[in-house]
Amino acid sequence: MKRNLGMFGVALLILSLIVAVILGFMAGPTSPLPWLLVAILVAIPFIYRKLAAKPYIEWKDEYSVGIDSIDQQHRKLINLINQLSTAVDYSTGEEFEREALAELVEYTKTHFVYEEGLMEDNGYPDFEAHRAQHRAMIAEVGIVLTEYEKDHDKAMSHAVDYLKEWLINHINGTDKQYSSFLIGKGVH
Ligand SMILES: [Fe+2]
Ligand SMILES: [Fe+2]
Repeated sequence: MKRNLGMFGVALLILSLIVAVILGFMAGPTSPLPWLLVAILVAIPFIYRKLAAKPYIEWKDEYSVGIDSIDQQHRKLINLINQLSTAVDYSTGEEFEREALAELVEYTKTHFVYEEGLMEDNGYPDFEAHRAQHRAMIAEVGIVLTEYEKDHDKAMSHAVDYLKEWLINHINGTDKQYSSFLIGKGVH
């Protein structure tokens, strides 16, 4: 909705500028004003994309769970989220968007399997609750993917926001809770 309103505003601005350019040229083609307005018109898509772009996530040391293999996977997840954000923000096309989304979902599942294996093999007491969180997330992603087939733009924006928030909160919260237990078991 917010995005639609924003796009409506931009469309209105572009229309007003076009009218102003036509009026400017009718008043006299030697005036620099219409040319300036043409330059603004050309720049609008670039400015709009920059403003609408979602901020990239950067890896922070505080995200570390103290286990190298998992930190590397979490870093890769963050890269894949950023790749998806780029695909969406810069309208790189549906195929590229689909690929970025599918790659993120697939790698998330691979990562969950790896993490669950470590927890289960080492007898982590909160294993079941942690796995339940992973499963709830995968179920939610399934809903988002179904939405995507109905309304690409809306679902994609929702997917990026949801995945970003969920993964960062999970990495920085639930995942950290197993750190000392697994490290104590010799996992590194
Ligand atoms: Fe994780
Ligand atoms: Fe996890």
